[in-house]
Amino acid sequence: MGSIYGTLCSIGRRVRPQMYSQFSLQYILRSALGRLEDVKSATSNARIIKRRAGSEERLQLPGCHAGAAQAHSTGTGEGGRRSREGEAGHVGRRVVSAGNMAACEKAVAEAEEKPEPATFRELGVTEVLCEACEQLGWKEPTKIQKEALPVGLEGRDIIGLAETGSGKTGAFAIPILQALLENPQRLFALVLTPTRELAFQISEQFEALGSSIGVKSAVIVGGIDMMSQSLALAKKPHIVIATPGRLIDHLENTKGFNLRAIKYLVMDEADRILNMDFETEVDKILKVIPRDRKTYLFSATMTKKVQKLQRVALKDPVKCAVSTKYQTVEKLQQYYVFIPSKFKDCYLVYILNELAGNSFIIFCSTCNNTQRTALLLRNLGFTAIPLHGQMNQHKRLGALNKFKAKNRSILLATDVASRGLDIPHVDVVINFDIPTHSKDYIHRVGRTARAGRSGKSVTFVTQYDVELFQRIEHLIGKKLPAFQTEEDEVMVLAERVTEAQRFARMQLRELGDKRKRPHEEVEDDSEQSLGIRNKVSGGRMRRKVR
Ligand SMILES: Nc1ncnc2c1ncn2[C@@H]1O[C@H](COP(=O)(O)OP(=O)(O)OP(=O)(O)O)[C@@H](O)[C@H]1O
Ligand SMILES: [Mg+2]
Repeated sequence: MGSIYGTLCSIGRRVRPQMYSQFSLQYILRSALGRLEDVKSATSNARIIKRRAGSEERLQLPGCHAGAAQAHSTGTGEGGRRSREGEAGHVGRRVVSAGNMAACEKAVAEAEEKPEPATFRELGVTEVLCEACEQLGWKEPTKIQKEALPVGLEGRDIIGLAETGSGKTGAFAIPILQALLENPQRLFALVLTPTRELAFQISEQFEALGSSIGVKSAVIVGGIDMMSQSLALAKKPHIVIATPGRLIDHLENTKGFNLRAIKYLVMDEADRILNMDFETEVDKILKVIPRDRKTYLFSATMTKKVQKLQRVALKDPVKCAVSTKYQTVEKLQQYYVFIPSKFKDCYLVYILNELAGNSFIIFCSTCNNTQRTALLLRNLGFTAIPLHGQMNQHKRLGALNKFKAKNRSILLATDVASRGLDIPHVDVVINFDIPTHSKDYIHRVGRTARAGRSGKSVTFVTQYDVELFQRIEHLIGKKLPAFQTEEDEVMVLAERVTEAQRFARMQLRELGDKRKRPHEEVEDDSEQSLGIRNKVSGGRMRRKVR
């Protein structure tokens, strides 16, 4: 009793006066429970209580079908609307009458008595999909799945925000597959992703979850022959997973293909899809798909710009957020190293040796630096493979598969690999070049410590990167510890690293020359371009530097 009273009083102090104008029990209850949620360190339990008490958090976007949501969320229809719009009026802490208090307590007690739904079945997932989850080894739903599945199964639009590696793909795939089972239809759902590799991964997840119900998906991404994709689309798959640019190509050029009947639109990594890079494409796509559809936006970081969300024309969306702020995963140990820019390569080799035996993703800012660093590391005997946008798609997928199959222990990548990719065995993420957008940091380090595993990240901070690093610390709300290095040991490596750098530069030049001769096959991942090294050093750089 005392704690709830305290909670209500503190809400009374925090809520703006105009918000009291149309006081409703539900509003106070919702706020009280929200506050209780804070008190309980935002456990998912509290959020379930929050929803059971009839008080889901709803986003109100201008231009959305608002009435129902407002009436529902405030419980008072017109009154609730005015309350939200902020008309005058003042009800202070006095509003906490004995009757209200009793109602609050009763609702909380009732909610606490009911156990939290712990299984997919209890969340309303149909038997055949529950079995599919079991086959994937998913014993129980993750937090975001607990939040989003009931909402999705109810047929509502969702804005899903949860940390990296927390099972967001399942959270949007399951409701779609269940709806598809209920109303089988070809070209049922469209999933947009920012990168090609992620599109393939999502397709695999749909096919794994929907294998027993015969779900067919098609991946429509750039860098792959249009004709084979046209044939795949002609077969009318249930789910189309696409990057925006190539989808537009097909919408404009592939006869007989349209998306006029789709029932679901998903934007995975929605903040990225909705940013300026994809603006024209996304606008074109939104014009040719029905407005009467369900829309899901998912990401570990979401845009706060209402205009951007408004473009998607969400209807009465429910925001399913596992945390209130952008978070990196608890089991991720994050470090930084502060070093002079000119010794970055030496420190990288030192850290790779220190953490030998692990598998690494190393992020670089440009294709060129990714390629150069991969060559450098190979020259020093590491099994490194690059992945970047200047490689052809065949090589990109090949590189990723070699890394996934553990044939290579180091993947050097640009931000093309920063979002969504799920490679469970990644132990360490190194930000060799610091990300310029702080949110990218969250996605990059999220390539490790996924699905409850632990992992490490090390971010290189040079004299030029201090401000960017501070922004990252501010965004994640944490001060990172320094990764311990022994300068003397690092400097011992300098001579051999310098030699390897020189070879890498020559190899890069060799690759550049090959690109200028179109008849020659260019080995983008440069596994074959060891010629110079062998000529110059007789292959003596092969052994790993210790
Ligand atoms: N209920 C579950 N139980 C156990 N593992 C799960 C469950 N749901 C998903 N996973 C696994 O968790 C891993 C991460 O899932 P997923 O890729 O969907 O994460 P995400 O939240 O989309 O991450 P990101 O933000 O990086 O895209 C996958 O390997 C997936 O198979
Ligand atoms: Mg994802």
